[in-house]
Amino acid sequence: MATSPVSSPAHRILGIETSCDETAAAVVDGGSVIVSSVVSSQIDLHARYGGVVPELAGRAHVELLTPVLAEALEAAGSDASGKGIDAIAVTCGPGLIGSLLVGVAEAKALSLAWDVPFVGVNHLEAHLFASLLEQPDLGWPLMVLLVSGGHTLLVEVSAPGAYRLLGGTVDDAAGEAFDKVARFLGLGYPGGPAIDAIAGRGDPEAYAFPRAFLDAGYDFSFSGLKTAVVNTVRRHPGADTADVAASFRQAVVDVLVTKARRAAADVGARALCLAGGVAANSLLRSRVEEACAEDGIGAFLPSRALCTDNAAMVAAAGWWRLAHGGPSDLSLGADPALRLAPTA
Ligand code: KG4
Ligand code: ZN
Repeated sequence: MATSPVSSPAHRILGIETSCDETAAAVVDGGSVIVSSVVSSQIDLHARYGGVVPELAGRAHVELLTPVLAEALEAAGSDASGKGIDAIAVTCGPGLIGSLLVGVAEAKALSLAWDVPFVGVNHLEAHLFASLLEQPDLGWPLMVLLVSGGHTLLVEVSAPGAYRLLGGTVDDAAGEAFDKVARFLGLGYPGGPAIDAIAGRGDPEAYAFPRAFLDAGYDFSFSGLKTAVVNTVRRHPGADTADVAASFRQAVVDVLVTKARRAAADVGARALCLAGGVAANSLLRSRVEEACAEDGIGAFLPSRALCTDNAAMVAAAGWWRLAHGGPSDLSLGADPALRLAPTA
């Protein structure tokens, strides 16, 4: 990262991401300059099942990774020989085990074939580095709201690699709640973008859905909200889907913004950053901007392409990890339940 106090000997890094349903490869220079970034989404493959089917995801990664890598390397002026690539970074967890293993095995094979080091990267840490790819000089400490299909975390980042977890979800992740509610409403998969789109023409005050733990602590709970949506629609079969979606989106965003804002104030954060797929939500983005302007702190909303899963963020985090912990060993495995280390 441009703000990192040390420079990594590995300059140009190939990042590989296969933890869920996006097959991605990217080449990043010096931890901060994206030279190429290719993301192949498996949305069409999983849409008919209403969610990611792990077995299908793993097999699709096997088929897609080679062409995705070839495209990312070619766009960066390299090729199958790996010329100009100094190191490889790969997501090694958390995620779907079969999917993670595809990326990890490929990274090891390329590391041996090209005779360059490789490093395993925590997918959650990669999401944190995505924010810094576009705005490296936000200043510390940062409060990061990491909201994805698998996680809802409030993380204080006092420097790259130095994290303190303030809160998380006790049940569904925010993205999972979007996906489940969208599925119930017949809006398809992935649910977040579908709800975001239809909510724009609904009345957010139409239904008073619950805001769990709104004034208490930093933990989140979304399963009661999901149940409230189901019960409401069953009680009002004629309910306008746009109104339900708008009221649901408003409830989720109210909770996320209230807690993130309070957490930022409590730790004296210089800025509030969004990360993860749900950070693409249009209401969340505008509400965070407003809240930060009111509170006099910076707001950083990464571009949508960097919010959702991509390999540039993996390469950026890998660059930092290589500089601070060195390369991984060939014995590195994939860990589907890998947690964000509290501090580095
Ligand atoms: O970070 P990500 O690409 O993958 C994971 O690591 O989970 O996040 C995917 C999640 C999905 O649950 C998807 O529905 C949600 O991000 N998402 C959104 C929006 N775009 C994607 N949620 C709400 N509003 C959106 N616009
Ligand atoms: Zn993710």
